[in-house]
Amino acid sequence: MELIDAVSSRYSARAFLPDEVPGETVRRMLDRAAQAPSGGNLQPWHVYALGGDALQDLIRDVATQLPGNPRGEPAEYDVYPPSLKEPYRTRRYRCGEDLYAAIDIPREDKLGRLRQFAKNLTCFGAPVCLFFAIDRSMGRNQWAHLGMFMQTVMLLAREEGLHTCAQEAWSAWHETVGRHLSLPDELMLYCGMALGFADEQAPINRWRTERAPRDEWCTLRGFGPA
Ligand SMILES: Cc1cc2nc3c(=O)[nH]c(=O)nc-3n(C[C@H](O)[C@H](O)[C@H](O)COP(=O)(O)O)c2cc1C
Repeated sequence: MELIDAVSSRYSARAFLPDEVPGETVRRMLDRAAQAPSGGNLQPWHVYALGGDALQDLIRDVATQLPGNPRGEPAEYDVYPPSLKEPYRTRRYRCGEDLYAAIDIPREDKLGRLRQFAKNLTCFGAPVCLFFAIDRSMGRNQWAHLGMFMQTVMLLAREEGLHTCAQEAWSAWHETVGRHLSLPDELMLYCGMALGFADEQAPINRWRTERAPRDEWCTLRGFGPA
């Protein structure tokens, strides 16, 4: 696959087929992703890949707790800044509205939206979930490098015919996830990532997010007129 095709065909898949992803594929992707850059070559990523019973046990555990604890566990980091300013606030709102519109869940249907959001905690049916953690001693610089690693994984997934959905939603269940992973105390769970074969027919996978035009986020100097 050409790099441009991997980049342009990647989207956050939120419905997966039950087809298994061989362990060999997961190992190959992760080995290749480790080529990602990091300042000082610290390689600050820690990855826990769960599939089969290991993943289903976690999903069942969270599903059992969810009714009594719909908000999950006390957060270890802010998924968004406490007060999201413009233009980010509008972009986030638009993303949510477009997602729910794609599956015909109106604003008033709070329960329907909650149910859809809770599908995060089933990895949207994906057979594999990658969990990304980082040493608590690391700063925002190394968090950025963990993100580069994750993007490399997402592009390599396309190479394998797979899709992904990065899932910060799992951060609300970091204690439970941590128990299932036997995560050492010095590591903090950042994010999950559903991995598998996308159900291309599912309405939620037929919607695509938009991007702000380049002028909104890029300054070019010294290149002459376009
Ligand atoms: C680090 C990270 C965490 C994310 N967490 C979630 C999540 O918990 N649930 C979800 O449905 N989407 C999640 N997303 C997907 C974003 O909503 C998505 O990337 C964005 O809207 C752009 O759409 P696209 O990925 O389809 O291009 C996450 C994306 C990133 C990069």
